[in-house]
Amino acid sequence: MNNTFTSIQEHGYVYIPGPFESSLTLSLLNDSFLKILENYQERIRIPSYIKEEIGLDPDDALVIRSNDTGHDEKAYFHYRPVVGRYLSLHLRRSPMMDNFLGLCDDVYHKMLHFYDQIYMDLDEDLSQIYEKFRSAARKEMLVLRLLRYKDVSKEQEILAMPHQDISCLTSPLYESHSGLQLLIGENWQNVKMKEGSTLIFPGMKMGLLTGGMPFTRGVFVEEKKKEQDFVSQGAIAPAEHRVLGVPGKKKYTRTSIVFFAHVDMDA
Ligand SMILES: [Fe+2]
Repeated sequence: MNNTFTSIQEHGYVYIPGPFESSLTLSLLNDSFLKILENYQERIRIPSYIKEEIGLDPDDALVIRSNDTGHDEKAYFHYRPVVGRYLSLHLRRSPMMDNFLGLCDDVYHKMLHFYDQIYMDLDEDLSQIYEKFRSAARKEMLVLRLLRYKDVSKEQEILAMPHQDISCLTSPLYESHSGLQLLIGENWQNVKMKEGSTLIFPGMKMGLLTGGMPFTRGVFVEEKKKEQDFVSQGAIAPAEHRVLGVPGKKKYTRTSIVFFAHVDMDA
């Protein structure tokens, strides 16, 4: 392991300096995302038959979920370079769109390089992770996610139920309003983004790669009992986390930017 992984193992998460000097780039990307949603949203949705045809994931590009799908209401844009290439080729270009896709690409590649540095000096016991990361990078499996939640109107409303990410490591990069909590031991702990540093916490793939086992348990989602998969604690346990509304705030819209550092489990 290296220091990063030792810290994650000990504390459940870690802050590493870089790759952004300040949150400026990320808040510009957030603003750009909101403008795109207002003005061009249909243009960055790719029909599912085309996604299938060119090998995109169902979640790639813009996905809008309304209440009636049984999911939480939200809109998200998943960026990978292949999404950028497709949209650049098939959209009428505009400065707003060029700016948005350019910022996505910039943030994506900064994060890719950042994770490369973190994984590079892993010791033998975890060196397989670097290979799996490099393979995921070649296949463009890592994902930059921009998310607009449903409007928050009640105090302490749960915006995201407790869950573990499918990623190997997750980095929340930006949030318009605080509300992210990690389960550390028995307690929910508020975690914030720090200027100049990047927050990292482990997902299910990290749990699996360090000896964790998958399991299923019932969780309550929108008054319906649904089953959800989790991974038990390996040497590094996936971080369970949730998102709450800000107490006392009347009505607002929360947006966030998250980078999912996936690994290729087949590599
Ligand atoms: Fe998550």
